[in-house]
Order: sequence, then C-alpha cells, then structure tokens
Amino acid sequence: MCGIIAYIGNRPCRDILIEGLKRLEYRGYDSAGVAITCTGGDGSTRICKTVGRVADLEAKLDADEPKLDGTLGLAHTRWATHGAVTDPNTHPHTDDTGTICLVHNGIIENYQSLKKLLEEKGRVFRTETDTEVLATLISELYDPDHGMDLEAAVQAALREVTGAYAIAAISSKDPDTLVVARKGSPLIVGIGNGEYIVASDGSAIISHTSRAMTLDDYSVVRLSRDGLRTSTIDNVELSPKVMQLEIELGEIELGGFEHYMRKEIFEQPRALRRTMSGRLDMNEGCVVLGGLQTHAKELVRSRRVIICGQGTALNAGMIGEYLFEDLAKLPTEVEYASELRYRNPLIEEGTVVIAVSQSGETADTLAALHEVMDRGALGLGVINVVGSTISRDTDAGVYLRVGPEIGVASTKAFTGQVTVLTMMALFLARRRMMSGTEVTAFMRELERVPDHIEKTLEQDDAIRTLTEKYIHRENWLFLGRGYNYPTAMEGALKLKEISYIHAEGMPAAEMKHGPIALIDDGMPVVFIATQGAQYDKVVSNIEEVRSRGGHVIAVATEGDEDIRRLAEDVIYIPPCPEPLSPLVAVVPLQLIAYHAAVLRDKDVDKPRNLAKSVTVE
Ligand code: F6R
Repeated sequence: MCGIIAYIGNRPCRDILIEGLKRLEYRGYDSAGVAITCTGGDGSTRICKTVGRVADLEAKLDADEPKLDGTLGLAHTRWATHGAVTDPNTHPHTDDTGTICLVHNGIIENYQSLKKLLEEKGRVFRTETDTEVLATLISELYDPDHGMDLEAAVQAALREVTGAYAIAAISSKDPDTLVVARKGSPLIVGIGNGEYIVASDGSAIISHTSRAMTLDDYSVVRLSRDGLRTSTIDNVELSPKVMQLEIELGEIELGGFEHYMRKEIFEQPRALRRTMSGRLDMNEGCVVLGGLQTHAKELVRSRRVIICGQGTALNAGMIGEYLFEDLAKLPTEVEYASELRYRNPLIEEGTVVIAVSQSGETADTLAALHEVMDRGALGLGVINVVGSTISRDTDAGVYLRVGPEIGVASTKAFTGQVTVLTMMALFLARRRMMSGTEVTAFMRELERVPDHIEKTLEQDDAIRTLTEKYIHRENWLFLGRGYNYPTAMEGALKLKEISYIHAEGMPAAEMKHGPIALIDDGMPVVFIATQGAQYDKVVSNIEEVRSRGGHVIAVATEGDEDIRRLAEDVIYIPPCPEPLSPLVAVVPLQLIAYHAAVLRDKDVDKPRNLAKSVTVE
C-alpha cells in the first residue's frame, strides 16, 4: 500500500530513487512522484510527478530540463486512499509555502479536523489528500530560528495525528536533513557508507547495503550526512536496532521469467524445500520449530486455536483449521481478521491466535492479533517478511522462508503458509497424541511435496492450452470438499484477481443450495477431485454439473482413469496423503489464473485496483 524511498548521502540520487520505486511498485501503482533537493543552483527542492507507472515518471524525468538530480530526495508510488488518481493528488506533497515536502504511506484519520484548524489559520490546500494536511501541519509548526527544526516539527505534528503513517520529510530550508517516522506502516533505514536509504521494504535497499535499522511505532529518525538520531515522537532518544537484510538480489529480479507471478509459481519446489529445511527431524520423529520452542509447553496445553488472515492467507488458514483438528486434535476456528477484530471475541484461557500473513503488515490481521492477544491469548505469527510488524508483535512464530514475493497475486507464500501450518500441526501432534513413527511417516510424505509440484509444473503447456479453450467464458466455479474446499477458494481468488474473470469458490456441496442456478451450457467448473475421504461425493457433484451442461475441469490423482468419463479436461497430480493434497492441487489453479491473465492481456503482476500489502482497513 504505497511505496516510499528516500535518500541522503553524497551520490546523485535520481537513479537510486527510480530503481527503488521500481522495486516497490508492487505496493501501489496508480501514480508516482519524486522530489529532489537540487545540487547547485539555488539548492531548491523540485518535484516531478505523474499519474501512471514508475516508467511514466522516468520518461517525464528524462524529458525534464534542466535535469533533476541531487544528493537528497524522496519518492513515492501510490495506491490511492484519499483523493482520486490525479497528478495533484500524487505524492510528494508540499505545504502552501513550498517549505515542507512529504511522502506518506498510511491514513491520517483526523485529517479533516486538522485541515479545518489549519484553514482557520489561513493555510491553503490544493489537493484532496490527508498527506498535504500533514505537510501543512509540519510547516505550521516548523520554526528553525526558534528551536523548532524539521525533526522537532515532525515530532510535534505526529503528536497531533491519529492513524497510520510511514513518512519521509525534507525542508527547502535545510538541504542536510531527512526526517522519517513510522506508526503502523512499514519503513526501514538502510545504512550505507556515508549515506542512508529509507524504504518501505528491504528490496529497495539491498542493492546498496544489507545493514538496516528497523523502526518501532512512534519512532522518528533524523538523518544527515554526518549520522542519525532516533527518538520517539515525544523526543525520548532511542538506540537504533540494526539488522542484516537477508534478501538476495536474484530473489527480487525476474531472472529470465516474463512475470514475477510465473517465476514465483515455478519457484515453489525450491521455496518449500527451504521452508522445511532443518525443521523435519526424521530420527526423532518430530518437527523442530525454533520460533515456537520457548512457548512449547503453553502450546501443548492450549485448548483452542483461532487462525486469522485475509485473502490468500485466510485460505491457507482454512487448510490450517483442518490440519490442526485432524492431526493435532485441537479445536480450531478460522476467521477473517477484519471480522475478528470487531467481533468482541470470547477468549478463554488456553487460546492461541495464529496470524497468517505474507507481508506481516496487513492492517486488519495486525489489529485482530492485538485484539485477541490483549484478551490473554498467546499470539503466534506465520509470516514471510522477516522483521515485519506482525512478526515483531507476536509472542512467537514461524517464518515461511519462501523469499520475497513480488507478484501481487500470492502463490509461493500460500504454499509456504500451508507448509508451515502443516509443520505446526505436526509439532503439536507429536506432543499430544501422534507417535514418532507416525510423524516420521507423515514428514516423509511432506518432504516429497516439492517433487510432486515439480511434476505438476511439467504440465504447464497443457494447462495453457486448456485455459485457452475457456478463455472467453466470463464466469467460472471452483469446487472442492474437505481439505480442498479452501483450495477451490484460492483457485477462484487467483483467477478473478489477475484476469478479472468472475469466479467463485465454494464447498462442492454448497453448489446445490443456490449457485447451481448459474450453471448452463459452457460454464467452466473446476473440481478438485483428488483421492480422499469425500472422493465419491465429489464425483456425484460432478455428475450434477455435467447433467446441467457445465464444462468440468477436474484436478485428479494420477491413475484415476474413471474421472475421464465425467470430466472434459483432467489435470493429474501425483498421489499424496489428503492433508497434503492442497499443496499440489493449487498449482494447476495458479497456472490457469496466470495463463488466463496473459491470454487476456492483463497486467499479471500489477492487477488493477490492487496492491501487495494492504495496510489500511
Ligand atoms: C491474493 C493476495 C491477497 C493477500 C491478502 C493478505 O493473491 O495476495 O489476498 O493474501 O491481502 O496479505 P498478507 O498475506 O500480506 O497479509
């Protein structure tokens, strides 16, 4: 949800900012802008912004004369919240005197009342954004001649603000200072050699330095070419928390693939091997999850699990519900974080809440986690981004280790989340009722999942041909039962979000309670019909669809020749235990969505209206 990058140092920063914006573009891509305090001349800050992609901004900058460059600057790629997608609403924003220049990710909730107060003081606004209000508030407080320098003005302004923010601010009167701050929205400070690069995430920093400082909520950092100072918005000095970024450049580059989504689908076997690496102890018959070790006793004694997340993470959580009940025999429920946070949930002793999130920044998931932890539950995270807010706010957790996910449509994070939830269920099962031998046998099957995915990926061409056949259909259904009901949900979500084809996922039995009315001659209906406890029931549902003219595409287990009698198209996956089948069955669904988007000429990695990390409610 909006990407921020800022630079202070001794190098011309225009290209650093543009390269950073390209890395962050997955976070929002309505419009983009840059502000640079120009080297030479009058040292003024100049802004260039445009509706469109970072490439459009780059073209505009190339055409700009004189060339905009300098050693202090900030830039932003936007996912609109307040105000339409227009040039004036594009960041960076300045106040009406042009003194303070600001980029912001998040939402200032009380911006209307602040705006009114500032208008009463004669301040003028030219945009519909909350960010312009914050820039004006900082400017109103800014008085460097009387001790109110940029850092102090930012602190004072943020004390007045409610909402979420990650900001970077500069002043036209102070070419040696960059001030950044955060609450609720992500921001890290890369520490280079005589330079700092601030960004929404490490992908925009890693080509310059791997040393970075994380920021807690309400922290403000003043950066100059001579060093940095960290404080709270109340000006209590803090010691910097420095960490190593564990991102490799190859992980955030396309590496010969046409799209990140395709790269990430094909990366799944390798990614999942990394997720499991060192965590499956075949000799002892147990799962080793270092992140949970300190809370192992509490976990074993737990009586109820609540899993929360949004979108794909919720779908993974739904599979987690089956896994925890089936393997660990623990009562488990799964809920949209956005509902859980406002539901006044009843939390008894022994409750564990598991927040599932790729980014670790999703606002609703974070708020639900806080709500339930505040009521006494143990909070665990299943997170991909190391050091993200949710990972820091939980009591314990397990990282996915699938590497950065850049395509907006989540793929390898989904299979990573399901793999981690499987390991967590086994971790508990071993301590509750499963024997070492049983756990080892299960882990051996889990270890084979990446091979099964590799084999499934070999059918890519056939899946493309199949998708082509149905590419003009505007409505699709995805149906499954048991473990593969969430897989069906995930297949529908993938298809709709990147190809804009209407798709619904649901339990196969639910179809008869209404949606069957949609089925007519020509409607593609994807069934996950792998071998398992409810296979026969799924077959009956297939018959029902067939008899109403629907086109059945079945994802089935190798060796199931009978299914050909019923389904027009069959995609086979290798046999595996039912609880592990979603990890493999989802892969053809990811490929169908990918090919549909490409065939319809859609922007696969940056679907309309979406952003990778949803840091607003
Ligand atoms: C869909 C997708 C979203 C996310 C959801 C939660 O492909 O990516 O539905 O899964 O916004 O995001 P995280 O996992 O970052 O909390």
